[in-house]
Amino acid sequence: MKNTKHLLKLMDWSAQEIKEVLDTADQLKYEKKNGVEHHLLKGKTLGMIFSKSSTRTRVSFEVGMYDLGGSALFLSSRDLQIGRGEPVEDTARVLSRYLDGIMIRTFDQSEVEDLAKYGSIPIINGLTDYCHPCQVLADLMTIREKLGSLKGKKLCYIGDGNNMTNSLIVGCIKMGMAVSVACPKGYEPDSELMKWADENGDFLCTDDIQKAAAGADVVYTDVWASMGQESEAEERKKIFKNYQVNAQTMSYTNKNAMVLHCLPAHREEEITAEVFEAHADEIFEEAENRLHAQKAVLVKCMA
Ligand code: CP
Ligand code: NVA
Repeated sequence: MKNTKHLLKLMDWSAQEIKEVLDTADQLKYEKKNGVEHHLLKGKTLGMIFSKSSTRTRVSFEVGMYDLGGSALFLSSRDLQIGRGEPVEDTARVLSRYLDGIMIRTFDQSEVEDLAKYGSIPIINGLTDYCHPCQVLADLMTIREKLGSLKGKKLCYIGDGNNMTNSLIVGCIKMGMAVSVACPKGYEPDSELMKWADENGDFLCTDDIQKAAAGADVVYTDVWASMGQESEAEERKKIFKNYQVNAQTMSYTNKNAMVLHCLPAHREEEITAEVFEAHADEIFEEAENRLHAQKAVLVKCMA
């Protein structure tokens, strides 16, 4: 029985493990700002497999490995044999003999789970169509930094019930936050996750923005068309046009509510330029926190 620590999805991690990673991330951030060097992953190599584009995930993991004394290899799936049909089970067994960990961004969650099943090194999910756990760890870190705590705070997500929404629901509920989602009918988050959230915390999914945003401490949004949905982008603009974070949305929330966005953002689609710029400090702190949170994940899984 293998005893490897993976981050395949947040559902696999306990609240205690999430908290530990957030604490480590805070500490690593403080130490980086104070010039403290680390060699926690000295001599270790992370392979980073990408089947989709990335700015933040790629750079935060790559810089994170260097910061921790290790190295990172960027591997485009287009150039790997996996892109020509070499089975995941073989790729996993081969790469396990060269590398000390893999971060993968791909389409199917099953590909990530299979890498973990057939390989023998830690696998970290850098985004699939189903979830984006690494982003949500940085989000929770950012919320805790700004609001002082997570328990009892309310996050409202507006827009497409996508990979971000799925991970936010799990991460926030596990940390004792209330979650509300406003999305058009037919674009809800994963139904099993919503059922779990209903049974385990304070959760609402509605098509009514005002209801969802009432009492929110954090407003979150993401693109209307995710990577892989480019052909639906025009149709989605019509479907989602009322699911925008704008001045009116912000009038329903708690005073001084934070606004977060995983980025990249499409101004005047899911968020107005006005709201985006008014909350730019929070949004770019969130982006910076990808680095610190991803380093904490690397330490947890690979040290
Ligand atoms: N938020 C996020 O994952 O950004 P990238 O797509 O640039 O990695
Ligand atoms: N939902 C977006 C998130 C990007 C970080 C996508 O999957 O494209």
